[in-house]
Amino acid sequence: MASLGLFSLLVLQSTAFGDTFLGESFAELSVNMYNRLRATGEDENILFSPLNIALAMGMMELGAQGSTQNEIRHSMGYDSLKNGEEFPFLEDFSNMVAAEKSQYVMKMANSLFVQNGFHVNDEFLKMLKKFFNAEVYHVDFSQNIAAAAHINEWVQNNTNDLLRDLVSSRDFDAATHLALINAVYFKGNWKSQFRPENTRTFSFTKDDESEVQIPMMYQQGEFYYGEFSDGSNEAGGIYQVLEIPYEGDEISMMLALSRQEVPLATLEPLVKPQLIEEWANSVKKQKVEVYLPRFTVEQEIDLKDVLKALGITEIFIKNANLTAMTDSKEIFLSRAIHKSFLEVNEEGAEAAAASGMIAISRMAVLYPQVIVDHPFFFLIRNRRTGAILFMGRVMHPETMNTRGHDFEEL
Ligand SMILES: *[C@@H]1O[C@H](CO)[C@@H](O)[C@H](O)[C@H]1NC(C)=O
Ligand SMILES: *[C@@H]1O[C@H](CO)[C@@H](O)[C@H](O)[C@H]1NC(C)=O
Repeated sequence: MASLGLFSLLVLQSTAFGDTFLGESFAELSVNMYNRLRATGEDENILFSPLNIALAMGMMELGAQGSTQNEIRHSMGYDSLKNGEEFPFLEDFSNMVAAEKSQYVMKMANSLFVQNGFHVNDEFLKMLKKFFNAEVYHVDFSQNIAAAAHINEWVQNNTNDLLRDLVSSRDFDAATHLALINAVYFKGNWKSQFRPENTRTFSFTKDDESEVQIPMMYQQGEFYYGEFSDGSNEAGGIYQVLEIPYEGDEISMMLALSRQEVPLATLEPLVKPQLIEEWANSVKKQKVEVYLPRFTVEQEIDLKDVLKALGITEIFIKNANLTAMTDSKEIFLSRAIHKSFLEVNEEGAEAAAASGMIAISRMAVLYPQVIVDHPFFFLIRNRRTGAILFMGRVMHPETMNTRGHDFEEL
């Protein structure tokens, strides 16, 4: 029995990116995925890229036919499109991502690793190239250590060395014939950067009421801000939404923060596509005092679990119909891993000289304060199209404060 591995990899450094037409239709999917991850991962940080997953599934859909294909289309929300109409949209997204932008760097690298001597239909390869600009490489999966090393080197090459060890030799064996790799690298800057000298050690109170010391960034600036009611009377029932744009104003990070006394789990069930819309439409540009942790979230998700929960099941079983990809029988997807990495810091790794800095006045609180010293929900989205690029939550901001930032220096 041949197996096929799908590895979806994403690197997001210090921010966000891109643009898309598919944005709105993925909101529902994003929320469903989030809820699924929340149900399985107790009290953990969450990070994933709905759009990156959509591209990975698009690549799989190209190879699928019959009910296997229908299942993917249905679960991805393409029912209202004509069969195949989703590919030009996905292509647009890929292209936009690849386009040179001055405000951020984004690289998407899709590839198909094929067992030496294994036949993949030419038409599939052609479409993969056309819609996803995907490269095809040959490896020998029976030499699983060498195959894993090769794929990891490829990933490193395509993510500016940021992501290492995506796959391990245990992911492959002589039965593996195909592996799909889907990698995104992104790096951007805040529109209004935080001054490193304003970062202080601060207590962050987790939902179990334990405290950790974390580096807390500070700035007072113009952001989009709103207060919303969670419908309860608990601690006033009010939560805050803050939207911090990245350079270029195209992409922003949107945070939803409950009151200190209220666990994030009270807020999470409210999150729906319509509510996200409401946040986006209701926040107002105004001066806000922001205290935001400098943090890193890294998560590896077993996409198989998540996709199965969303109704994509056939592709994972032995009678999957992948006849558009290969004439070989009994091929199915055995592994699907989605790995993402997010670093939020003062300026972004390659920030230009500081500009437009705002002096701090602690004389009086004249503006709303957003003090992110307890768990929060966040989105990174395109402000114009509503496309959700990343979704997640931070429960443990202390995990991995590495990558060139020395905690002791604070
Ligand atoms: C796959 O789906 C196509 C299109 O519906 C169908 O013609 C074909 O018989 C199916 N093949 C397998 C192996 O299920
Ligand atoms: C990675 O990049 C190096 C240097 O450009 C190149 O020699 C090597 O073949 C690349 N490896 C892979 C797997 O693409």
